[in-house]
Parts: sequence; structure tokens; C-alpha cells
Amino acid sequence: MMEWTDRHCRHFHRLLTRRTRLYTVMITSGALRHGDAARHLDFDAAEHPVALQLGGSEPDELAHAARLGERWGYDEINLNCGCPSERVQRGAFGACLMKEPRLVADCVAAMRDAVTIPVTVKHRIGVDEREDYGFVRDFVGTVADAGCEVFVVHARSAWLKGLSPKANREIPPLRHELVRQLKHDFPALTIVVNGGIAGDEAIAAHLREVDGVMVGRDAYHHPWHMVDWDRCFLGAAAGPAGSPEAIEATEAKASVEAAMVTYMARQAALGVAWPAIARHMLGLWHGEPGARRWRQVWSDHRLRDEPVERVARLAAAARLQAARREPAAATAADAASAAA
Ligand SMILES: Cc1cc2nc3c(=O)[nH]c(=O)nc-3n(C[C@H](O)[C@H](O)[C@H](O)COP(=O)(O)O)c2cc1C
Repeated sequence: MMEWTDRHCRHFHRLLTRRTRLYTVMITSGALRHGDAARHLDFDAAEHPVALQLGGSEPDELAHAARLGERWGYDEINLNCGCPSERVQRGAFGACLMKEPRLVADCVAAMRDAVTIPVTVKHRIGVDEREDYGFVRDFVGTVADAGCEVFVVHARSAWLKGLSPKANREIPPLRHELVRQLKHDFPALTIVVNGGIAGDEAIAAHLREVDGVMVGRDAYHHPWHMVDWDRCFLGAAAGPAGSPEAIEATEAKASVEAAMVTYMARQAALGVAWPAIARHMLGLWHGEPGARRWRQVWSDHRLRDEPVERVARLAAAARLQAARREPAAATAADAASAAA
């Protein structure tokens, strides 16, 4: 997710879940051809399994970008056919590519020829006035003929005129049933559903119908939700943060925070200021007493030149103090600010 799932965010998420597949932000094939590839592509081995998401519509350029992705060690190349932003439309890629399934097929074929890792596609269920099931069915069929075996489907149409990207994640209605229909019509393909999914029960229900679930905003805003996923859905004995039954959740959260502080101190030595990293973990204490005060400290840019260890001490003290004062009120205020 743009601005969100950078390598620091992925480092944080890996402290909560070892087995889920993480995705990079969308990186354009042009940026990799003309820009600093290492700056865009470097990641840490601990992030595996991790997919590189590419944006582009030029087969040769995408093949070059995919080759770089494989060389850098990514586990999957994913082509973005779902982004509705005006900038992306001007570049003639993202969601508008759904109107050109043969071009997407050419892009997939070129990338598949260039790499040995899987090439997958993320897309919507429709674009603008094309919202009938036949449109997305034919898109998937055409792209599958080029060898794509995995489709991640955001179960909303993209309305390309007049809606911001944010509104395009909220206003077009969710139609999960179309994704189930795709699985029914293409049983040999791996179909992953995305869009508006939150909570283990909802994930489990989708997994009875399709092959996978992608969770975006809920995972980012409520990262602790991920702590059960390795165990619940991915066959692990327990998540890396420990079984929630076995370890008091607050202790486990504190130990994840401590690991992030160590990481931020290491990154500071490399020139990365802690606010660029801490912003990804602001949901860690969500729902706990004192979480709002804790978040305020970690978001306080007046502290940006302070050593991260000191900020961590201030944040913990603020959280505990607020929790002691008004545990119930603090939790209610957190819920209200999260809902806002
Ligand atoms: C801040 C933000 C950035 C996003 N950037 C991307 C992106 O780069 N590539 C992509 O395929 N989807 C992107 N998305 C869309 C999400 O991947 C996802 O499809 C969408 O949010 C619906 O899923 P959710 O309801 O689980 O969040 C972004 C979403 C958000 C909130």
C-alpha cells in the first residue's frame, strides 16, 4: 500500500506474523528503469515471503522490472491493475488496464518469460460503467491464458472519474460474491479476495469459499489482529510474538515495541529518523487503556530529534499514567478516535 507498506512497516509486521505474505508499495517500472533501483527494492531477508508490486503497462519495461525484482530476492511479482489514481491513469496503468486485458496478458507473458518466480495480478471487479460479471470474468480468462495463475481481487469497481483513490476504496459497493463466482468458474486458479475484510471469523468464512484473503487497512490500523493468523490460518504452532493464551497480551505488545525501539535505534545510525518508522506502529496498543496518550507521544514531531529510547520511555510512561487515571474513559476515547 502506497506510503504504508514500506520496508519499516514490513519489519514491524514480521514481528507479529511470520507466514503471511507481505506486499511492497506499488513501484513503477519506469522508476526502476530510470531511478535508483536499490532505494526502491532493498529489503531485509526477515521480510520473506514478500511480493514486489509493480505498476506499468509496457511489457519490455515490466519484464526488466520483474527481472530486477527476482534478482533482489522477491518471492512474487504482482502487477497492479487496481489503482484508480489520476497520476496512475495518466501513466495508463493501474485500474484502467482492466479495459485492455490483452495488453495485461502481454505484460504478464513478458514478465513470466523474464523470471522464474510467480507473476500474479491484483485487480478490481470492474471499471466505470463495466460492472457486469462478464467483464471481470473475461479479464481473468484472458490474463490466465497468458499463464497468470493467481488473482488478487479487490471486490469493488474502480470509478475512474470524479472519485479520489480513498473514495474508491469506500464508495463503490463491495461485491464479494463476484469473487466467489470467479473461483467457481476458474477452479484451477488461485483466487484471493480483498476489500473490507476484518476479523478472524470473516477471514475464515472467506477461506471456505476462495483460496486466500488479503487484508489491507484493518491489518495496518489494528496490527495486533495479525498475531493469531499464523496459528489460525497458516498452520503454525504459534506466532513469533507467542501464543496469546500463553503470554499476557500487554507483555507481548511491550516486547514487540521494545524490538521496534531497537530497530529504530539501528536505523537512526543509518540516517532514518524514528518518526518515519514509528508511524507504522501507532495501532499497536489500539483498544488498550492509555493507547491514545501513547500514540500522541509517538506522533509528537517536537520529539523528533530526541533519541528513540527516550521517546519510548516517555510513551510508556504516558500510557501507564493515562491507564491508571481513567482506564475506561481512555479506552472509550481510543475507540472514538479510531472510528473517526
Ligand atoms: C494508503 C493505501 C495505499 C494503497 N496502495 C495500494 C497499492 O500501492 N497497490 C494496491 O494494489 N493497492 C493499494 N491499496 C489498496 C489496498 O491494497 C486494498 O486493495 C484496499 O484498501 C481494500 O482492502 P482493505 O479493505 O482490506 O483495506 C492501498 C490502500 C490504502 C489504504
